[in-house]
Amino acid sequence: MKKIIAGNWKMNLDCKNSLILADKLNKILNIKKSRNEVIIFPDFSSLFLVSQAIKDGQIKFGSQDVAHKGLGAYTGEVSLESLKQLNCKYILIGHSERRQYFADNDLVADKLFNVIKNSKIKPILCIGESLAQRKKGETFKILEKQLKEAFSKLKTKDLENRNIVIAYEPIWAIGTGLVAEVEDVVKAHKKIKEIFSKMFRGSKIKQVKVLYGGSVNVDNFLNLQKLQEVDGLLIGGASLKAGDFLDIAYNF
Ligand code: PGA
Repeated sequence: MKKIIAGNWKMNLDCKNSLILADKLNKILNIKKSRNEVIIFPDFSSLFLVSQAIKDGQIKFGSQDVAHKGLGAYTGEVSLESLKQLNCKYILIGHSERRQYFADNDLVADKLFNVIKNSKIKPILCIGESLAQRKKGETFKILEKQLKEAFSKLKTKDLENRNIVIAYEPIWAIGTGLVAEVEDVVKAHKKIKEIFSKMFRGSKIKQVKVLYGGSVNVDNFLNLQKLQEVDGLLIGGASLKAGDFLDIAYNF
C-alpha cells in the first residue's frame, strides 16, 4: 500500500513563497521520484497558482478545508466546486486548528458529507485528543466520538469504493515538539481502524489509511516509519523546509 506524506502549510506562506516551494518540490520529485504519495496543502489563495505550477507533476496538492455546503451565500468560504475545477486530490477536514479557532466541530459532518457525496476528492479527516483528555484517560473515547460525529450524516453505501484517510493528530503534539510515544501511536491507530470497521461493518470501502501528525520532523520520522499501523504522515512545520520534507518523502 502506498504511503502518504502530506505537508500542511497552514497559513505560513504567502502566494509568492507557496509557489516557490511548490515549484522546487515538484522539480526535484519529477527528477527523483518518491515511492510514497506526496501531497502539499497550500492556503486557499495559493491553490490556483500552485495547481498550474505542478500540473502533471509527481507531487499532488490538496485543500486545507472546504465549505460545508454547495455554491451559495456563504461569504468567505471556498466551494467544493472550485476545488474540483482546480483538480484538487485531497481535502483536509476538521484539523484541530479549524476546530479550535473556527468552530469546525459543528461543521465537520457536513463538510465530510459534502465531499463524499459530491466529489471523488479524498477527504483526510483529522481527529485527536487534547492533553487534558489524554490525562483523564479519555483518548479512545474522544477518537470514537469524533469519528462517529464526523460520519454521522453518511451511510455505509456512501462509502462504497471510497478511499478514506484519517489523520490521528494528538492536539498536544501539534507544533509543540512533543511527539506521541510509538506505543501510543500504534494503539491509537489500531483503535481508529477498529472503531471505523465497526461503524461501517460489511461496507465495500476501498481502503482506510491512518496517518500520524504532530511534530514529525527529520529527526523522529524513522521511528514512525517502522510501524505498520502508520500509513503515512501529516506534517506541519517540517513541511515548510524543502530539504526536510523531501528527506521524509524519500525515506519514509
Ligand atoms: P506540526 O503540525 O507538524 O507542525 O506539529 C502538524 C499538523 O498540524 O498537521
